[in-house]
Amino acid sequence: MLSAKASLVHAQRAAIRQSKRAYHDLVVPSEKKPVVSAGPPGRSAVSGHVATVFGCTGFLGRYLVHKLAKTGTQVIVPYRDEDEKRHLKVMGDLGQVVPLEWDIRNDNQTAECVRHSDIVYNLVGRDYETKNFGFEEIHVTGPQRMAHIARESGVPRFIHVSHLNASPNSSSIFYRTKFEGENAVRDVFPDATIVRPGPMYGYEDKLLQNMAVWPIWWKLNNAATKIRPVHVMDVAQALANLERMDALPQIMSLPGPSTHTYAYLLELISTLTYNAPSGAPTLPKSLVLAAAGLLQRALFWPTLSPDEIERRYIDDVGADRDKKFSGDWDVVGIHPDEIERHAIAYVRRYRSAVNYARPIVLPARPVCRLKSCSFLLSRDYIW
Ligand SMILES: NC(=O)c1ccc[n+]([C@@H]2O[C@H](COP(=O)([O-])OP(=O)(O)OC[C@H]3O[C@@H](n4cnc5c(N)ncnc54)[C@H](OP(=O)(O)O)[C@@H]3O)[C@@H](O)[C@H]2O)c1
Repeated sequence: MLSAKASLVHAQRAAIRQSKRAYHDLVVPSEKKPVVSAGPPGRSAVSGHVATVFGCTGFLGRYLVHKLAKTGTQVIVPYRDEDEKRHLKVMGDLGQVVPLEWDIRNDNQTAECVRHSDIVYNLVGRDYETKNFGFEEIHVTGPQRMAHIARESGVPRFIHVSHLNASPNSSSIFYRTKFEGENAVRDVFPDATIVRPGPMYGYEDKLLQNMAVWPIWWKLNNAATKIRPVHVMDVAQALANLERMDALPQIMSLPGPSTHTYAYLLELISTLTYNAPSGAPTLPKSLVLAAAGLLQRALFWPTLSPDEIERRYIDDVGADRDKKFSGDWDVVGIHPDEIERHAIAYVRRYRSAVNYARPIVLPARPVCRLKSCSFLLSRDYIW
């Protein structure tokens, strides 16, 4: 048993050991300020980094804030709605998650949000236009102003999240403005890193959750549209890893590991939830577009917008090349997971009480080119 004095000395020595800094704790990402890490690893550490996450209140944002804060990074979380940021506050140690009220049109607030940061993430985006904000402002002019202010404030790293399908020639305005946004950011912040994730799935996604509730809207194009779904956790981890890398890539595509049709994903949900496949018919595009346009004008809450319908007919980039197009995951040292591995966690809530605890059975994949995923071919495969 240690005496009180001896244990005090012991604790003091341990504290000195922990607070001792070594040369490798020092990182200088720019001339702005050195980054010095300290303390034990984990949530109570101080990584020395300060990150601003615009768009932190969204689906991807919450996972990124969590991954940054749990390694001891101080995270600035700009928010619009008081209630939307409350869950973020507890993701880091006391004082490490700092909410700041923010309006995308207010440059002073933007400057305030990035003033102390050495890395800025822009995750702001919207699937549909509203009366207040069009795609142009959310995806092009807004990000450009953020990047410009970050540059002026001496922030060394700006990470702009775009979309895998960003293209100047797309029939979707969303994808076109995403592409224009990349160029607009690069014009004012030439070293910015552009990240292009595929469609993401997770608890709050607009993919699996929406498919489970509204299968009819995923049967457009005979449900033959091919996508590269990716786990939101993998994308969040990839973004978080960028914080500690010495040299950042200019552009990074993050598609899911496999190509799937909407038909397969609908079958996956139906098999996992033990709910009968939807018997809804495939509606003609012109009819759905007309109805969506009408609803968008008549209602003040978001419904399926005409541009989202347009996107339901567009295959993801690399969908035709499947595994041969694996994106830039190697750069951040991550192997993205297959959707079959996680889908049950996100769709189990759609099982009835009788089926809730039944075993997990996966449907057969229509095409499986890799030997490594041949285990998924069996209909009887049980977790
Ligand atoms: N989800 C996907 O499958 C997917 C796939 C590829 C790329 N992306 C891109 O990845 C980024 C994050 O996606 P996400 O799914 O997390 O999006 P999300 O859930 O819709 O969140 C969007 C974020 O942008 C903010 N935002 C939207 N309009 C704004 C405005 N006018 N002023 C200020 N903030 C505004 C939202 O703030 P509020 O909470 O205040 O509304 C929210 O924090 C987006 O750029 C998206 O386009 C998403």
